[in-house]
Amino acid sequence: MARRKIVAGNWKMNMTPSQAVELCATLKDLVVSDEVDVVYCVPAIDIIPVVEAVKGTNVAVGAENMYFEAKGAYTGEISAEMLVDAGVKYVIIGHSERRDYFKECDCLLNKKVKKALEAGLVPILCCGESLEQREMGVTMDWIRLQIKSDLVGVTADQVKGMVIAYEPIWAIGTGKTATTEQAEEVCKGIRECIAEMYDTDTAEAVRIQYGGSVSASNAAELFAQPNIDGGLVGGASLKADFGKIVNYK
Ligand code: 13P
Repeated sequence: MARRKIVAGNWKMNMTPSQAVELCATLKDLVVSDEVDVVYCVPAIDIIPVVEAVKGTNVAVGAENMYFEAKGAYTGEISAEMLVDAGVKYVIIGHSERRDYFKECDCLLNKKVKKALEAGLVPILCCGESLEQREMGVTMDWIRLQIKSDLVGVTADQVKGMVIAYEPIWAIGTGKTATTEQAEEVCKGIRECIAEMYDTDTAEAVRIQYGGSVSASNAAELFAQPNIDGGLVGGASLKADFGKIVNYK
């Protein structure tokens, strides 16, 4: 069975709650699609107004992060249960900005992935290499290590429902998109890694996105690749262009 495409915006630390509601109104008619799952991953403070603003539309809401504990003395953190109760369906885990700036390691990310799944959220698990790693020729080794570590103890059935986002760090926010061949090569490699870890059925079911300077002009070519099931979009998700990316065909 063909995998359904999924295009998610990662708003990062942009949009105040009132700007968020405005953006939802701007995008409402532009992101309508029967063929593609559409997700807005938004800052925690925007979750409640955005859930309200997209009610009755084809848009689902995602969080950009969460903590793995259920509750308690973790000042500043947000639990999976809180996200679910607020109407969130997806959660980005292990974005390179969280790995780099907030020192999130694979051991922590593994706990987050398991907790998200247990709570009924769909994790969008991010992986990706630095420019130095690409130049050293260790891209696939690095990504396989990330995937294997982050999925320890996760079952095949759980992986089938997940989303994995390949985001080369050097392509994020730089306007320097990976070539279609580079993006497809790594997404294919991720699928092969999942097949080795689990089985072919699981590898064929999991959705793998490409992220890194996805735009209205490169989305069609990227998303046409056999192993690329959509995109995780940063900058271009904050403007009307996002509608063109969703309706890339
Ligand atoms: P840009 O689309 O701005 O390059 O960001 C990609 C990204 O990090 C999405 O998670």
